[in-house]
Parts: sequence; structure tokens; C-alpha cells
Amino acid sequence: MKVLVVGSGGREHAICWKLKQSPKVTELYCAPGNGGIAQVAQCVDIKATDADAMVKWAKDNAMDLVVVAPDDPLALGMVDALEAVGVPAFGPRQNAAIIEASKAFSKELMKKYGIPTAKYETFTDLAAAQDYIRAQGAPIVVKADGLALGKGVVVAQTVEEALEAVQAMMVDKKFGASGAKVVIEECMTGPEVTVLAFCDGATVVPMTSSQDHKRAYDGNQGPNTGGMGAISPSPYYTPELAQRCMEEIFLPTVRAMAAEGRPFQGVLYFGLMLTPDGPRVVEYNARFGDPECQAVLSLLDSDLLDILLACREGRLDTADIRWKTEAACCLVLASGGYPGSYGKGYPIEGLDQVENAVVFHAGTAQKDGQIVTNGGRVLGVTAVAPTLEAAIDAAYAAAKPIHFEAMTFRHDIGRV
Ligand code: AMP
Ligand code: GLY
Repeated sequence: MKVLVVGSGGREHAICWKLKQSPKVTELYCAPGNGGIAQVAQCVDIKATDADAMVKWAKDNAMDLVVVAPDDPLALGMVDALEAVGVPAFGPRQNAAIIEASKAFSKELMKKYGIPTAKYETFTDLAAAQDYIRAQGAPIVVKADGLALGKGVVVAQTVEEALEAVQAMMVDKKFGASGAKVVIEECMTGPEVTVLAFCDGATVVPMTSSQDHKRAYDGNQGPNTGGMGAISPSPYYTPELAQRCMEEIFLPTVRAMAAEGRPFQGVLYFGLMLTPDGPRVVEYNARFGDPECQAVLSLLDSDLLDILLACREGRLDTADIRWKTEAACCLVLASGGYPGSYGKGYPIEGLDQVENAVVFHAGTAQKDGQIVTNGGRVLGVTAVAPTLEAAIDAAYAAAKPIHFEAMTFRHDIGRV
């Protein structure tokens, strides 16, 4: 089969790496891809959000499957557009991708169907938002409604901080149009767990659990990022919790989407908080998480292509989905300054000296035969070992020879 993966990050590298192992994949393409993806797939120079060009290329080149991995093309309906011209696509349609694209939608869905989450109110009026914050007090959480690269969330410790956040979102338009509407919600506490799940519209099959590290600096300090590292499975996610999440969150969500006429086919991302009152949803995403994907797919023992096809064809209930009983750790090496501004184009040294790990490229490019930095998150060094401790140690050891100008990373992935 000829397969095209849409996207250019570490997640897409991991998806390509796993698809490449399928004997059924005869040709593998990635658009636009990056310097590392180019080593496993043929990169096609089309922007992930350029739906017209993507659809045309996929049709002209007779793709048997297009895997739409990032949030933006999903939200703008790339899956619908591909299917409209007869190209099979993996990922939710636009009317289901809204579960990530609008926090107001997802919060309303959870309220309507009794799915546990933080209490909230939605605002389009600045004065009303300010009054609500003053009435509720701190800590309190302010979220831009739309997509903001995982950065449109402020967990405010004081009322002043929360007021500044709504000002920045609603008036200063820090996140553009996505801040015109804000969701203000109760601050929850407890460990965070990510559960990615394959969905075919009716059946939901959770993958092995994982944990992201969203803050930029050690000790969960600093600004939110796209994710600085991930481990899988999460040590907090017991079989009892998994059972409870299935009954109270996963099944109800998939049923709710179907009942709303928005059947979800693709990977549904459950961002959970294990609060003293039980597991609650922090957020949904309509795709694999990044960097969770790199850790989780490293543990998948089955053929990914078969599973993606089963999702599309509504036969996930009989799909072969097995996981290694080991653990994985993905350590992100980032550009100094990220998630703020950072330099690009620095040569990356030492990649050929990495042992006992797979290095998934996120923000890299090939320039004059050399791999150079090309983004905030640059590489995800991913190791698998019999225990979580060993996987963490292996990822850090494997990263040692790698170097680029202003390289930075967290020293406590899997330990907080
Ligand atoms: P989100 O983009 O919604 O996942 O939010 C980013 C991060 O903000 C989450 O991973 C949590 O660490 C934190 N967060 C979001 N909502 C809440 C909440 N209601 N209570 C506490 N922390 C939250
Ligand atoms: N790692 C968080 C996300 O992909 O949204």
C-alpha cells in the first residue's frame, strides 16, 4: 500500500517509523516531513495545512491511505476533503475533530453526558469573565477556546494572574482568534495521565498509558510547552483506574460523539487528572499526543497499518493490538529559548553515536548534507527497557553524545 503521513514533527516521525515496519507498506511518504523523517519516508514539500495541494497530490499519486496526524489539518477538514475525492484517510472528520478544536464544545459535551471534568463557564464578554474570576477566587484556570499549540492555558495562582490572562487572550489577542472565547474553570489537582485510544466510531481501544511533561523547566516549573518528554506506561495508572476510566470516561465519550452525529474515527487523546475525587478529563485531543506518541508507539507490538485500517473500516473490535510489557521514555532535546523565541539552523552533532535508543526528529532539516535544528522541540531520544527506571536511564545515556548550539532539556523526565 502507498501511505502518506501528514505532518512534520516527532510524532509523525514515530508514526512513519512504525508504519515502515509493516510489510504491507510498499511506499511511504510524509508531507512536509523533516530531516529525520527523510531517512524513513520520501518527503513531499506540501505544508500540513495546505489541504488543496495535499488532496491533489494524494489523489494524483493514488495514495491508498493518508494519515492526518496534526490538529490543524484535522480541524480544517482535511479528512473530509480527502474522502470527498475518494482517497481513504485516517483521522476524525471535521465535525468530530471539534472535540479538540473547541474547548467550549468539549466542555459542553462532558456536561451534557455526565463525563467527569472540572467545573467551568464560557465567556465572550471581558467584564463578565473578570467578574467571574473575582467571584471564584484563585487558583483558577483560564483557557483560550481554540487551538493554541497547547500553550493557550494559564493555571493562575492569583486573581491578578487570571485577570492578566483574560486580558491577554480577549483584548491583546495573544492567541489570535482562538482567544475571542475563553473557558474559565476550576483548578484540579493530582497526577496527570495521557491515554490515547484507537476509535472506529463505536469501539474504543485504549493504548498503553503515558505521561507528558508539559512545563519547560525541571520540577514542573516555567511556561507550558508542547511537551518536554514522555514516559509509558504511567506508574499511576492502575488496572482499577483503567477499568474506571473505561466506564466513566472513554466509552461515554465515544458514545456521546456518536449520539451527537459526530462519530469519532481516529486516535482520541484523553488528558486525565487523577484527582482525589477520581479521574477527570483535563482535555481531549483528536490525534496522537506529541511526545506521548513516540513513547507509546515504541511499545506497540502489532502492525500499526492494520490497526489504522481497522479503525477506518469499523472492525476495531477484532483488531490485533498487543503491547510490549516493557517501558519507554522519550526525552525531548529543545532549542534554548523554547517555548519563546529561539535560533534555528544549528548543526546537530553526535547523532551517529547514539546507542540503544531511537532518535525521533521533531524540528530538524537537512542542509548541505547535514542535519540542522529547525524548531523549538528538536529531537526526541526514545528508549525502551524492561523497567521504567531503566528506560529513563537509557534515554538520558543515549542523548549524551548529541549536541547542538543552545541545546536544552529537562533532567527529570519520568521522575516528577
Ligand atoms: P490543556 O491544554 O487543557 O491540556 O492544559 C495544559 C495543562 O494545564 C494541563 O496539562 C494541566 O497541567 C493544566 N491544566 C489545564 N486545566 C486544568 C485544570 N482545570 N486544573 C488544573 N490544571 C489544569
Ligand atoms: N503532548 C500534548 C499534546 O500533544 O497535546
